[in-house]
Amino acid sequence: MKVTRIGIVGVGGIANYKHLHELLTFEDVRVTAICDINPAALKSTGDKLSLPDEKRYTSYRDLIADPDVDAVEICTSNDVHAEIAIAALNAGKPINLEKPIALNYEQALEILEAEKNSSAFGMICFSYRFMAAARYAMHLMEENIIGDVVGINVAYLKNSAFWENRPLEWRFIKEIAGSGVTGDLGAHLIDLAQLLAGNITELCSVCSTIVKERKKIGSDEIGQVTTDDQCSFIVKFANGADGAFHITRCAIGHANTIRYDVYGTKGSISFDLNDPSILSLSCGEGDPKNLRPTTVKVPEEFYYMQERAFVDAVNGKRDFLFPTIADGVRGQKVIDAVIRSAEERRWVNLD
Ligand SMILES: NC(=O)c1ccc[n+]([C@@H]2O[C@H](COP(=O)([O-])OP(=O)(O)OC[C@H]3O[C@@H](n4cnc5c(N)ncnc54)[C@H](O)[C@@H]3O)[C@@H](O)[C@H]2O)c1
Repeated sequence: MKVTRIGIVGVGGIANYKHLHELLTFEDVRVTAICDINPAALKSTGDKLSLPDEKRYTSYRDLIADPDVDAVEICTSNDVHAEIAIAALNAGKPINLEKPIALNYEQALEILEAEKNSSAFGMICFSYRFMAAARYAMHLMEENIIGDVVGINVAYLKNSAFWENRPLEWRFIKEIAGSGVTGDLGAHLIDLAQLLAGNITELCSVCSTIVKERKKIGSDEIGQVTTDDQCSFIVKFANGADGAFHITRCAIGHANTIRYDVYGTKGSISFDLNDPSILSLSCGEGDPKNLRPTTVKVPEEFYYMQERAFVDAVNGKRDFLFPTIADGVRGQKVIDAVIRSAEERRWVNLD
């Protein structure tokens, strides 16, 4: 059995609760090194993995240079995605890079350029491509079950702006995060929407910061929130379809609700990723006025883990929905346009 040796840069929340959670279930993977600038994070994950001190790095350059690392997972805050991704690609090591790909479109293009000049490749963690219902929906659409897409309505709802005593984390600081929910949650929605309906060509948005001040971490001093807590936008897709997006961390009652309604010329598909094992399908013969939604269970073959997709790609096998760096760049272009449209209070053309 060939073992793939993984190094992880940034061992905070997503590295532990998603990446390691999945990687540690694979027999053909060893996590051989980690890196973090936070000593507490380095210690707790290092201890969890029983890694020797010399495999617990504080510089990502040392982790990338480690001969015991075949591939690099980048799970840091957004401000350092680009520099770490480019360094790993320049060293010829494949990367699995968290979303949003970078702070802005220009940085995203630099990562793409590094990939073009590298023997290695990158994957972007568009995690919702690996939700069974989304995968099955894509498959059904490729089979032309609902015809041509004419409209799409998507929502990403969380309550996380209102968590009691939530401090001024990096997510609330524009220089570190790039944007707020638009890049954080919207990166997923935009990616999946463009997968389902094609490229977004123009859009018009509104963005708001609802909780404007938070206490700085470990202090009573108040700091300003400089990223958006919610955004809504309408879009035009290249094929003429329309779309509406609502993305918020201000929806009390919703821990992590992601809803998609996709309407086509022959039928429609809806899914709610609170239960990714089912989707709702309205299609069939006869007059559409008589079609009603039926609940369909997602077949077993559409279950596939994000981290499995990365390890398989390192070993030469690519998933049909493999999220490339080019996909990350395409999404970042939309994220930047959403922010620009809201700031300038106007439609933005993406061509
Ligand atoms: N795919 C998803 O669904 C999903 C979900 C949550 C977060 N994310 C993304 O994952 C990334 C991390 O988010 P998080 O919630 O885990 O944040 P986090 O703050 O919990 O963890 C980030 C870690 O990176 C470390 N770090 C920062 N700069 C570093 C550097 N230069 N070198 C080494 N380590 C460094 C920090 O010390 C921290 O431990 C973000 O890009 C975020 O958008 C993705």
